[in-house]
Amino acid sequence: MYMASNDIKLNTVYNEDSRHLNKFLNKQIVDVTITSPPYFDLKDYGHKMQIGFGQEYSKYLEDLKIVFKNIYDCTKDSGSLWVIIDSFRKNNEVTPLPFDFSNKLKEIGWKLQEVIIWEKDRTVPWTHKGQMRNLFEYILLFSKNDKYNFFIDEVRDISTLKKWWVKYPERYNPKGKTPDGLWKFDIPTQGSWGSGYIRHFCPLPEEMIGQILKISSKEGDIVRFKPLVKFEGQDTLFRIWRNSKKANLKSKKDDFDVLKAYKQFCAQQVKYIFIGLKQNIEKANWTMDRNNSNAILNVTTINGVINCLRLLIENDTYGDIDYYKEKFKSIEGFKFKKYKSSQYRKMGKDIFDRCFK
Ligand SMILES: C[S@@+](CC[C@H](N)C(=O)[O-])C[C@H]1O[C@@H](n2cnc3c(N)ncnc32)[C@H](O)[C@@H]1O
Repeated sequence: MYMASNDIKLNTVYNEDSRHLNKFLNKQIVDVTITSPPYFDLKDYGHKMQIGFGQEYSKYLEDLKIVFKNIYDCTKDSGSLWVIIDSFRKNNEVTPLPFDFSNKLKEIGWKLQEVIIWEKDRTVPWTHKGQMRNLFEYILLFSKNDKYNFFIDEVRDISTLKKWWVKYPERYNPKGKTPDGLWKFDIPTQGSWGSGYIRHFCPLPEEMIGQILKISSKEGDIVRFKPLVKFEGQDTLFRIWRNSKKANLKSKKDDFDVLKAYKQFCAQQVKYIFIGLKQNIEKANWTMDRNNSNAILNVTTINGVINCLRLLIENDTYGDIDYYKEKFKSIEGFKFKKYKSSQYRKMGKDIFDRCFK
């Protein structure tokens, strides 16, 4: 089943051949892609459409080119692509896959921006005599343009900020040390990140993905509503959530039932405020349609309302649908359109001051 081009479903897993990705995702809407391609002839994934296993190396690279051309086409001009990839040994010599791969991607238009070494503690065991132990993989960062989202300030290391750095700002940024291209993240313990025991060749550490998202996405992009759902702080849904097992989420132990319950609670609270608001907005304007100049549904408004919810939680003045419906009566005339996308916090504060104070 293929979808119409204007019907792209978010948060949906398609169990399909990624060479046909463009049939499902054919609009430039992607900010960041993080992936690792199938291994070449090293692992049988057990599917007839698999890329890698049993293929000629040149055919394998051509297939990867098709996949990454599809990704190129749906990535925004400011977007980026992160690929975790490794060289491998076959027929008594090393094949430099990361570099062959980069050259293929260059043919598409992807520009290689960073080559990062990911040092990890465990890896696919290569215990051949006379070879060194392989303790790292490559992380390659590609962009479509010279200018792309790269928020390095988000990941500066301030813990090692020394006094003299401040004296030499040309050498040392006062916001912290620029992270280097050698990343150390342990791979998660097998079985700790799924509901059952699944053996994965190389599971990706959550913190590493977090680091990538901090660099390549900004608050307000769809992926980051962390401030509202984080575990610590006065302004988080976690604080007001009543669940006797909620501490489990903070511990290392995975408790997927509790996580599911927390997600449901968060979704419900977000729904309440939006439904309450919707009741007070003219029906025709409750739309994402850009042709309607009074349309209020866009990322800025959504983040603005979510930030308002944070303030409500912080002040213990949150409520249910009826409460919001009543309070939002005074939203009439509010100039949603005057805020730039970076001003969603201010919008949230202004909505809070206007309707809830
Ligand atoms: C190295 S794994 C990485 C998986 C995933 N990116 C991750 O990090 O969990 C490569 C994956 O590509 C999948 N794969 C192989 N051929 C494929 C194809 N033609 N279309 C989609 N996926 C494919 C394999 O089943 C495998 O799960």
